[in-house]
Amino acid sequence: MPTDRAATERPLIRDTIAGASVADLAREHGTPLYVYDADTIRRRCRDLAAWDTVRFAQKACSNLAVLALVRSEGVVVDAVSTGEIHRALAAGYAPHAAPGTAADGLPPVHPIVYTADIFDRESLDAVAKLGIHVNCGSADMIEQLADRVPGAAITLRVNPGFGHGHSQKTNTGGEGSKHGIWHGDIPEVLRRAEWAGLSVSGLHMHIGSGTDLAHLAEVAGALERVAGEIGRSLTTISAGGGLPVPYKPGEVHADLSGYFQLWDAARKRLEDRFGHRLRLEIEPGRYLTAESGSVITEVRAVKKQGGRKYLLVDAGFNTLARPVLYGSYHPMSLCPRDGAAAATTEEVAVGGPLCESGDIFTQTDGGFVATRSLPTARVGDYLVIEIAGAYGFVMASNYNSKPLPAEVLVDGGSARLVRRRQTPEDLVRGETV
Ligand code: LLP
Repeated sequence: MPTDRAATERPLIRDTIAGASVADLAREHGTPLYVYDADTIRRRCRDLAAWDTVRFAQKACSNLAVLALVRSEGVVVDAVSTGEIHRALAAGYAPHAAPGTAADGLPPVHPIVYTADIFDRESLDAVAKLGIHVNCGSADMIEQLADRVPGAAITLRVNPGFGHGHSQKTNTGGEGSKHGIWHGDIPEVLRRAEWAGLSVSGLHMHIGSGTDLAHLAEVAGALERVAGEIGRSLTTISAGGGLPVPYKPGEVHADLSGYFQLWDAARKRLEDRFGHRLRLEIEPGRYLTAESGSVITEVRAVKKQGGRKYLLVDAGFNTLARPVLYGSYHPMSLCPRDGAAAATTEEVAVGGPLCESGDIFTQTDGGFVATRSLPTARVGDYLVIEIAGAYGFVMASNYNSKPLPAEVLVDGGSARLVRRRQTPEDLVRGETV
């Protein structure tokens, strides 16, 4: 298991990210700025080396440089849209597997899998034209694909009837979720696939994001039961994503070796039953990139509203939406402009520039403003919002006509711009008067 420090020990003052100076990064690229540490991403990919296949849920962080980095670690990708297919191809992934058996004696790995609950017309065209493997989250996708790709092999994404996430909005199982094919419908869905001439080669379950190993562990048994219903056509099983990362003080990294063993045992039982090998996949998003990413912001105002002190920075929920959407907690640290940190700390609320009261980084679920103990800050200091590498930039928006921030990848101490900041021209591109 990773032995990194837990969130409790994070410093409140920081002047570097992955060996690069926060102040230099801010001066060179402007703020707000997303910064990713390449080594952390590599380490997280390698933590999962026991699994036959690590499939990155690129929705968490889909910058081409990040995709190319995980590709160099032997990680393949999931795509949920035509845009994500396009990104995967641009990062060097092949659209489909080479035929035959992989070098490890296992069935071939699909470099890109399209996982969704619908095909919009564009994505159906793309998977058909490129021969991309499809993970169907709704039975209606079966006939739609069969019409375009006769005889295709598919994966079924099954909703096992239970789910769990860090928020109700990230729970993807049970009756409250639109995701996946309902577990009780498998016999009927298999008849539909057979009628349509498609074979079912894969089975996938993903019960939610930011869950815990106790909930995730229940999935292996549920998948094993459904695999028994599908039978010998299966060549690949996927545990989905959902691996937790520590955000809050006191949270620690989960023991992933026990989790792998549980799945490996389920896989072996199914192999014995079917008489052939099964590829075992995991599909993390957050786990691979969350801890690698930080947002550098600049403090632009410090003020008191009655008894409460606010730091207002130049990033808002247009930059990082997780706090306003889910009340998510992100660690923060201060990088004093002149290198001299104040000796005192104080309780502050941290907000952004948007014309909306919910534009607060220190809020709890339900939108209640909370405070954080931070070193006393002045205008011009940099505030670093941490563990922002998953569902950070990818959920940024142009609200209030704010440009999307730049992204920088730091590797071996040197920083490389991997996406330039949007310009005012970018903001109105495609519009007409
Ligand atoms: N596989 C499927 C089919 C998924 O829908 C997801 C996430 C993943 C894998 C990856 O889950 P992860 O390993 O990252 O937990 N915006 C939310 C998270 C939404 C997750 C959506 N699906 C957040 O900021 O917490």
